[in-house]
Amino acid sequence: MQTFFIDKTIRPATLYDIERIYALEQTCNPNPWTREGVAEEFSNPNSIFLVLETQAPHATSSQIIGFISAALILDEIHILEVAVCPNHRNAGLGSLLINALLSSAAAKNAVRACLEVRAANLPAIRVYEKRGFGRDGVRKGYYQDGEDAVLMSLELF
Ligand SMILES: CC(C)(COP(=O)(O)OP(=O)(O)OC[C@H]1O[C@@H](n2cnc3c(N)ncnc32)[C@H](O)[C@@H]1OP(=O)(O)O)[C@@H](O)C(=O)NCCC(=O)NCCS
Repeated sequence: MQTFFIDKTIRPATLYDIERIYALEQTCNPNPWTREGVAEEFSNPNSIFLVLETQAPHATSSQIIGFISAALILDEIHILEVAVCPNHRNAGLGSLLINALLSSAAAKNAVRACLEVRAANLPAIRVYEKRGFGRDGVRKGYYQDGEDAVLMSLELF
């Protein structure tokens, strides 16, 4: 049976979220970040790390069902990872996370967003294109398993 959530909040991640982000990363990414990798992103002063939290009716604790992580390098925001729990996909949550990240990056004076995505990752490419990202090119054999990366970017102003 599907669970319905009433409250959704996007907020900056905190150190207390690491375990839950790590667990979500394991379910979402075939080459997941390690626990240390997640923790490293927190310690980067130029990172923006947001989580999507929900509170189910009558539940005593909240759940983290998505996150997005990016690094601000000068005036460019580099999106490193976005993930939504498999049970909650195709409901606009990935797009919500990207919009929240871009607002946060614009508030820090970013003028451009960019990323690499696996060429076969059609849901992710769709999410970025919906938000207005364009394809800048392909980096052949970019990933360890030989898959190509599609380079995408968006001008924020
Ligand atoms: C990418 C991801 C974050 C998207 O999250 P989401 O909450 O499903 O995103 P949204 O609901 O906002 O949008 C998903 C879109 O992909 C589309 N989609 C889903 N499967 C698709 C497929 N196989 N081919 C093409 N489009 C597809 C959906 O129809 C939807 O587009 P629409 O709104 O036009 O119908 C999620 O799929 C995920 O966590 N994937 C695993 C981690 C990952 O690959 N991250 C990207 C790293 S760059």
